[in-house]
Amino acid sequence: MNSVPIGLGIAAPKKSVDNKELPKELDTSDEWIASRTGVRRRYIAENETTASLATEAALAALGHAKVSPEDIDLIVLATVTGDYTFPSTATIVQRNIGMSKGVAFDVNAACSGFIFALDVADSYIKLGKAKKALVIGAETFSKILDWTDRSTCVLFGDGAGAMVLQAEDSNRGVQYCKIYSDGNYADSLITSGGVSTTQTAGFIKMNGREVFKFAVEKFRESLDELLRDNNMTINDVDLLVPHQANLRIIKELIKFSGIDEKKVLINVDKYANTSAASIPLALSEAKDAFFSGGNIVFLSMGAGYAWGSALIRL
Ligand code: UT7
Repeated sequence: MNSVPIGLGIAAPKKSVDNKELPKELDTSDEWIASRTGVRRRYIAENETTASLATEAALAALGHAKVSPEDIDLIVLATVTGDYTFPSTATIVQRNIGMSKGVAFDVNAACSGFIFALDVADSYIKLGKAKKALVIGAETFSKILDWTDRSTCVLFGDGAGAMVLQAEDSNRGVQYCKIYSDGNYADSLITSGGVSTTQTAGFIKMNGREVFKFAVEKFRESLDELLRDNNMTINDVDLLVPHQANLRIIKELIKFSGIDEKKVLINVDKYANTSAASIPLALSEAKDAFFSGGNIVFLSMGAGYAWGSALIRL
């Protein structure tokens, strides 16, 4: 049994903030942000929450797949900015979309969340434990940004993306998913608190340079491994969807892989880094091309450190 993507949906908050609209006290500039990161604007949640964005994206994906919520028997939702400490944001989405059977739960893998959630859902489907699944990445990172820290707050934004997977007895769909973590680097990208430590959610703290280097290294390793394990060369990849953290990281990826840059999806300019939502949001830029077929590769790396890759063939 294979898991085949049959629908994709996204959602973003109403409010979009461009670099020039950021608080003056930050002592930053559109020029610095755009040239060092590629970010030009980001969406910021006001009335939206992670669950409301996830719900909107899920309903859009179900509409695109022409699947009714009652037919979904699994939701795996990746987030580190859930609505509540508990219950899981996935169960809020389950209620919101009117799905009562099956199971819904969250996974926490920060920026690699979507690939981690995809791996879980794919495994459930391959084991025959689910037939139709929603894989969701949804975040409101604006809520855990320290708006006085220019080295982090300019980098992130809010949004959600959802994919419907269907069990099919075919060779199409998710061919390969590999996820990794190394907790030795837990402190390099971390919040300043949490329920059990400070009784708050905390704010993002990041060793930017170290994360940058590790991201490039893991993109390279993961892509090499994926190509090798699937007997492919870079020319066999039709679409490459990297996590959208920094345009300079993506440019490094284009350089070392030798991929035709037209095949690489980039929208960090309009969403900034949306963590677990970044891969489906980037994929939405080429929705028709994705569903029209080919070899599609996802790559991500983020807090944990946690990283991973996936190959989908449609
Ligand atoms: O999604 C999870 C993965 N996250 C990432 O992959 C992020 C990886 N890291 C990065 O993208 C980059 O390291 C950053 C964008 C975070 C920083 O870029 P950088 O080129 O590594 O800059 P830096 O941290 O080395 O800082 C260079 C200078 C510093 O000033 P001095 O010490 O040279 O005087 C910073 O204080 O830039 C300064 N700076 C800023 N200046 C204006 C840092 N942030 C800003 C800012 N505006 N927003």
